[in-house]
Amino acid sequence: MMTDKSVMRHITKDITNEAVTEYLSNFYKPLTPELGELRDALEAEPVPVILRETEDFLSTFMDVIKPFKVLEIGTAVGYSAMFFAEKIRQYDQLSGPQVYTIEKDETMFRRAKQEIKKLGYGDYIRCYLGDCEEGIKQIEKEGSNRFGLIFIDAAKSHYRRFLEASLSLLADDGVIICDDTLFQGRPALEGEIPPRKHRTNTLALREFNEFVKTDPRFSSTHLAVGNGITIIKPI
Ligand SMILES: C[S@@+](CC[C@H](N)C(=O)[O-])C[C@H]1O[C@@H](n2cnc3c(N)ncnc32)[C@H](O)[C@@H]1O
Repeated sequence: MMTDKSVMRHITKDITNEAVTEYLSNFYKPLTPELGELRDALEAEPVPVILRETEDFLSTFMDVIKPFKVLEIGTAVGYSAMFFAEKIRQYDQLSGPQVYTIEKDETMFRRAKQEIKKLGYGDYIRCYLGDCEEGIKQIEKEGSNRFGLIFIDAAKSHYRRFLEASLSLLADDGVIICDDTLFQGRPALEGEIPPRKHRTNTLALREFNEFVKTDPRFSSTHLAVGNGITIIKPI
């Protein structure tokens, strides 16, 4: 039998608990039927896509901060980029490229371009192929306006680098959101050596989570939503 302590330290893929996640997932509603169908297909494939709970959070969060433009690091096949574009359409109007997204994997990048075109978001989303920093340099060179929301959802061991690199593109009242920062609860298990295949990500996220909490440039909070969401506001 597990003791209370061992229950607390038990790793699940679910950082809250299964019943709560299942309960909350009943409230999930895709922004459009087409995005809902795409999500179902991507989850079945599977390819990386933001969790339903994360999307639900982002949806209301965007209604609160209403960013005119969004920068995303980590496109995968473009689902979240299309979600951001559709969301902007709901509270404002889409009048041109307002979602900029960077992907370093060429196969993902090509597929994202196709999916985005297929669902009709081609005029509103700009895709950049390359490492985060290359994409950011390109966006800076184009002289794009600053971004009200920056969403970091790429290699977990490089979050600090992504954050530092993207700060120059953040609008004065902008907010940064990092996804997956509680990574299956693993960063919370201080003192335990993470299994080899998760070691780099776990240790890097633990360091990153502490960094954003202690760096005086930021106000930040970690939410146990989805796989962990960190909201960062430069102060
Ligand atoms: C979790 S997936 C993104 C999912 C996507 N945001 C969605 O919800 O539809 C992470 C993506 O980040 C990309 N990536 C990883 N490291 C990167 C880097 N240094 N620069 C740009 N993209 C990167 C990966 O190739 C992968 O496709």
